[in-house]
Amino acid sequence: MRRPLIAGNWKMNMTPDEAKVFIEDFKKQELDSTVEVAVIPPFVDLGIVSREISDTEIKLGAQNMCWEDNGAYTGEISPLMLKEIGVEYVIIGHSERRGYFKEDDGMLNLKMKACERHGLKPILCVGETLEEREMGLTLEKIGRELDEDLKDLSLKELVIAYEPIWAIGTGKNASPDDALYVIEFIRKKVDELLKIGEMVRILYGGSVKADNIKGFMDREGIDGALVGGASLKVNEFTRIVNFK
Ligand code: G3H
Repeated sequence: MRRPLIAGNWKMNMTPDEAKVFIEDFKKQELDSTVEVAVIPPFVDLGIVSREISDTEIKLGAQNMCWEDNGAYTGEISPLMLKEIGVEYVIIGHSERRGYFKEDDGMLNLKMKACERHGLKPILCVGETLEEREMGLTLEKIGRELDEDLKDLSLKELVIAYEPIWAIGTGKNASPDDALYVIEFIRKKVDELLKIGEMVRILYGGSVKADNIKGFMDREGIDGALVGGASLKVNEFTRIVNFK
């Protein structure tokens, strides 16, 4: 039985003061305890959010991290820093990191290995562009990302987020059936690579909202959602968590 995970990726939104106001309100909400909930704020908000949620079941995630433990890597944040502050999940390879910041699969494989070394749980993001989808290259692209990003790993706890790039922040979501088709392919592939096909949780991400979450969660095989824009409002995110 895989426990559903709803993770809110705040991206580059919310100052520490805004994060405090958000989380004080969010932790007062009644959340379905069968669903695992994670908030994934910007680095500078992690300390305040970590303190605020320490008396709750809400989990903390980071949006990125360096593959090295310490050293001359100006502007980077190490796995040790994240662990000390109470981070459990780390997004690896979000399409915005791959696209805007030129993170390639070799780099992402090193980040995955750093997660494994430090017992951080990666949320590895994969997905196709609209052009790749239209050319029928979706599975080939995602298969290649998984081959390269999961190379030489023996992780037992892993989350994958299937995020069609054309669906991110656009208001156009994949249909639950289309998402499930790709997610089933991902599960098979992860089983070939790591032998954890039944255990790996695979989320859908891309314009998830309170009004469409149930359609995804009703499909057996879709284990949760990585939510961007709709995770920034307490009421909307609470409704997503309480999708049942
Ligand atoms: O990490 C979250 C995804 O990129 C989805 O973002 O819900 O704003 O489309 P979105």
